[in-house]
Amino acid sequence: MSPKDKINIAIDGYSASGKSTLAKLLANKLGYTYIDSGAMYRAVTLFALERGIIKEGNIYKPSLLEILPQLNIEFKKESKNYAETFLNEINVEKKIRTLEIAKYVSPISAIKEVREKLVSLQQSMGEKKGVVMDGRDIGSTVFPDAELKFFMISDIDVRVERRHQELTQRGDKISKTEVKENLRKRDYIDSNREESPLIQVEDAIVIDNSEVEMDELLIKLGKIAEDKITYLNQKVS
Ligand code: DC
Repeated sequence: MSPKDKINIAIDGYSASGKSTLAKLLANKLGYTYIDSGAMYRAVTLFALERGIIKEGNIYKPSLLEILPQLNIEFKKESKNYAETFLNEINVEKKIRTLEIAKYVSPISAIKEVREKLVSLQQSMGEKKGVVMDGRDIGSTVFPDAELKFFMISDIDVRVERRHQELTQRGDKISKTEVKENLRKRDYIDSNREESPLIQVEDAIVIDNSEVEMDELLIKLGKIAEDKITYLNQKVS
C-alpha cells in the first residue's frame, strides 16, 4: 500500500437507518465514490415490474431469470453532485424510490441469481478501491476484506419518521403505520433469507444514529476513516 492508496468502506444496516445519507456524505468528505447497492436491487425490481414479471403480487422467477442478462445498471453523475442510478441507459433514480418498489424489492433481492449478478457488478465497482458502499451484505459478502466496516442501527420509530417524511415529500400518500409495516417486513426478509442475509459482521463498528445528528456522525466516521487510512499507509511505508 502506498501513501496515496485508498480503502473500501462498507456500511450495512436496516432499511431507513440513515446509511445512504451518511455513506454519501462520507464519500464526499474523503473524495471517494459512493455506491448505493440497494438502488441496484430497486432497479432490478423496477425492471421486473416494467416487463410485467410481477403481476398481482406474484413474482415470476423463471421469466425474470430469462431476461436478467438484458439488464444493465450503472451509476452516473448527471445534474446532481452525486451519481444517480441508470437502468439500461435510463436515469431511474426517482422511479426506484416509490412504495411500489419497496413492496417487492426484498423478495426480488432474495433471489440467488439476482444477488450473484449484482454482487459481481458491485465487486467490479470496488476493484480499484476508494469506494463507500452501503447495503445489507457489503461487509459480509461483497467486500469481506473491506478495510473499514460500519453497521448502522436506529430506533424503528426514528426510521419510520425518516422514511415517511421522505415519501410524503415526494408526493406519496402513505400513513406511518404503512411505512412501519413495510420496514418491518423488509427487515424480516432481509435478515432471514438464505442468500447472504443482513448480518452484523464481527469486525464492523456499530453506529447508532437514533439520536445523533448527521453532521456529528459524519465527523465521527470521517475521523475513524482518516485514522484508518493513515494507519494502513504508515504500516506499509
Ligand atoms: O437500502 P435500500 O432500502 O434501498 O435497499 C432496498 C432493498 O434491497 C432492501 O430491502 C434489501 C435489498 N438489498 C440487499 O438485499 N442487499 C444489499 N446489499 C442492498 C439492498
